[in-house]
Order: sequence, then structure tokens, then C-alpha cells
Amino acid sequence: MAKAKTAFVCGDCGSDYHKWQGQCSDCGAWNTLSEIRLGSAKSTSRASAGRSGFAGELAPAKVLSEIDVSEVKRIPTGMTEFDRVLGGGLVPGSAILLGGNPGAGKSTLLLQACCGLASHMPALYVTGEESPQQIAMRAQRLSLPLDELKLMAETNVEAILAALDKHQPRLLVVDSIQVVYSEELSSAPGSVSQVRECAATLTRAAKQRGIVLLLVGHVTKDGSLAGPKVLEHMIDCSVLLESSDDQRFRTLRGQKNRFGAVNELGIFAMTEQGLREVKNPSAIFLERGEKQSSGSVVMVVWEGTRPLLVEIQALVDDSPLGNPRRLAVGLEQNRLAMLLAILHRHGGLQVGDQDVFANVVGGVRVLETSVDLALLLAIVSSFRDRPLPRDLVVFGEVGLAGEIRPVPSGQERLSEAAKHGFARAIVPRGNAPKTAPKGMQVHAVATLGEALALDF
Ligand code: TYD
Ligand code: MG
Repeated sequence: MAKAKTAFVCGDCGSDYHKWQGQCSDCGAWNTLSEIRLGSAKSTSRASAGRSGFAGELAPAKVLSEIDVSEVKRIPTGMTEFDRVLGGGLVPGSAILLGGNPGAGKSTLLLQACCGLASHMPALYVTGEESPQQIAMRAQRLSLPLDELKLMAETNVEAILAALDKHQPRLLVVDSIQVVYSEELSSAPGSVSQVRECAATLTRAAKQRGIVLLLVGHVTKDGSLAGPKVLEHMIDCSVLLESSDDQRFRTLRGQKNRFGAVNELGIFAMTEQGLREVKNPSAIFLERGEKQSSGSVVMVVWEGTRPLLVEIQALVDDSPLGNPRRLAVGLEQNRLAMLLAILHRHGGLQVGDQDVFANVVGGVRVLETSVDLALLLAIVSSFRDRPLPRDLVVFGEVGLAGEIRPVPSGQERLSEAAKHGFARAIVPRGNAPKTAPKGMQVHAVATLGEALALDF
């Protein structure tokens, strides 16, 4: 009997190798390679076996201008915040991956969207984690329309494909991809090869039939999608649902989008009635007590097309450790280290023997560089134990030479802050407005030194 063909696949990035090795040469992770048995190609003809990763129909080549693009019409989900992150709605024939940690509300979000959508397009919700009864009960409790959405408990990918043929939906939800398995592979559900193969099979089926595929994916502790990175290459759009620290709000962020921008942020509130959209979120994360405390300052983040006011906090304290800690929550860890070096070099402040903790209040994640100046001022304020004024708002990028660089949409950020009653602002010189918003005093600075010299 011929020996079964096997390969070794990295659990982190999905690269495959002929032989086992201790470290994945692609992503550098150690001990992540596991052996998988390759599916036999017998059942498929030679011609199609060679195109196993191909997702479209075979057609003659055309020049770009000949290709009809007018027919791609987006389907609004009925949830504006969801549509905003998707870039305007669902695109037929696309595969969307919705990631998030357990309890983030992925199933709730999709159930709400699908119940609404099912009234104007046939939809099938395949659940592998909850029973149909549980989902029906939830839909009933949330007073969603119950008459149109078809529900099915299934984890076998071949059975899901058969259901596609039988019910002919235009929208397919699979909750979640980690529990789906294929009979053709011997490895356990949730393993790299199963997730990879099943996602590829479903994506291919969706593209060929022109239906919208929504996959739910779990997220590991560090925030990356559990299962191989290859998932992210296969799908058209990847969005991540995250919960805030106090569990009240959920943020939906695009990570990859072949049909739109990825910097949009959708905000929902988790209520008794399921997820509710927060239409005007600019100040929802801003809740400050009366007391003026050091190490805290407000900044304006520009998320996609909307401003968001968030509070940045820092705590600088004598470290009992030989190797002081630098911890950033909601901010980039490396950026914090870099900013501390800039502060030492260009601000003359030595924090080498101090623990430095930085946090964005409300559990929001700030990826923009405009947080730099606010974070540095919060650190200095905590270090000197001198509170910054409560009506001060700060934003700006800090360069390695200690220069303060302008950020996009400076004027809009300022007017949003003015609307919420902030009377003072420190902004990059490049963002200095011709006329400051009414009732606001704007300090435009070009270097870190100038910003630190401002005395309030
Ligand atoms: P769920 O959609 O099951 O999360 P996921 O599929 O991402 O694991 O959401 C579960 C959480 O949402 C749970 O912690 C309770 C909360 N929740 C509410 O607060 N109100 C509601 O109406 C619903 C449906 C859920
Ligand atoms: Mg779920």
C-alpha cells in the first residue's frame, strides 16, 4: 500500500513544509509545526485538482474596460455601523470573517443583521456552537423578525454545501469556522488543516454562486485570529468585534477590506435588547470624575470619518525592579518605549528607573500616531505629579528628533473638542488653525520642548 502523504503546517501562519522543523522559517514561531494528512486528490479530476485554491469561474481574459462593474451592488445590512465598517454594505460573492473573543457578541450581531436581511434575500444561518433552540429563543427575546431566516445546526462542510444547493440562499452565515470539519481530512475539527480546507471550500462555493459568506472566527488572547493566517488571505474582508473593559460597548473594526477602507470604527452598546448602534459616539468614552488628577489628558482620535474623544492615562512610579516595567493597554507597546526614549533625549526627563503604565480609558484601542503627544504629556504630568487642566485637549505625532508632526483632520478634531466644552488645546504647528474655534485657546507647538515648556 502506498504511504499516505503528509505535510507539516505551522499553526500560527499556515506555511507548510515537507519535513518537521523546530521553528517556522516564515513567521519565526517555535514548536508550532504539526503533521497533517493530505486529502487524496482521487475524487477530483486532474484538471480541477490543479486549481484547488482558485475561487472563480474559468473565463477568457479581458481588458479591464471590458469588465462589467456596474452589477456589483452593495446590500445594506440595516445596521449602519456594520455597513460603515464593511465599506457600505455586503458585496455579493464576497467572504467576510467576523472575529472576536468569546462573548464579544458575534452571534448576536449576525443574528440581528440576518433576521433583518432575510426579509429581502434568502438567508441561511448555520450554527455549530449553539442549538437552534437557543438561537430561536434569543431572536424571540430580542423581538427580531422570525419568519424568514432559515437555521440549521451542522458542522460538516459537505453537508453545508448540500444545504446550499437545497435552499439556494443568497447569504450564508457559518458560526463558527473553527467547529466546521471536512470528512476528507482525518485531523480534528479546529486544527489548522481543517480550518484552512473548510474555509477554502466555503469561500469557493460562495464565489461561484455569488452569495455573501459570513464566517465567525475566534480570537486568541493576543488578539489574532485563532487558526492559520491563511484564513486572512482567503477572505475578502476581515472585521474584529472587541468589547470594552466595562463590557458596555463593542467596537467593530475592519482589519482587511478588499472593497473599502479599513480605518472605520463601528460602535455598539450591548444592552438587554441585544446590540444597539451608537450613532454619535464622539464622547461616549469620556466620563471623568470631578477631581483633577495627574497623569490624565484627553485627546481626539480620528477613526475613519469620525472623531472620538478619549482619555489617555499614565502612571509613572518608582520601580522596585531592576528592569522597570513599561506596560501599554490600548496603545502600542513599542511606541511607548520609543516615546520614552524621545522624552529622555529631547525632553530631558529620565524615567529609566521608573515603572511606566499607560492606558486608554474605556477599553478603546488607539492605533493612531496622533496619541504620541497626549501620551507624553500624561507621562510627564504623572512623573511631576502635576495635573493638567481638565479643559485641555492634546493631539500630535512626535518624531524621533523631538519634532511635533501634524496629523490629518486637525481642524475637525479641534472643532469636535470645542463642541464638548474644551477650552484649551495643544496641537502640532502644522495643524494650527487660521481661526481657532470659538471659545478655545490653541497652542501650536513645533517641538516637544515647546510643548513641555507650556505652563498651565
Ligand atoms: P454572543 O453573541 O453569544 O457572543 P459570541 O458569539 O461572540 O461568543 O454574546 C454573548 C454576550 O452578550 C453575553 O456575554 C451576554 C451578552 N448579551 C447581552 O448583554 N444582551 C443581549 O441581549 C444578548 C443577546 C447578549
Ligand atoms: Mg457565538
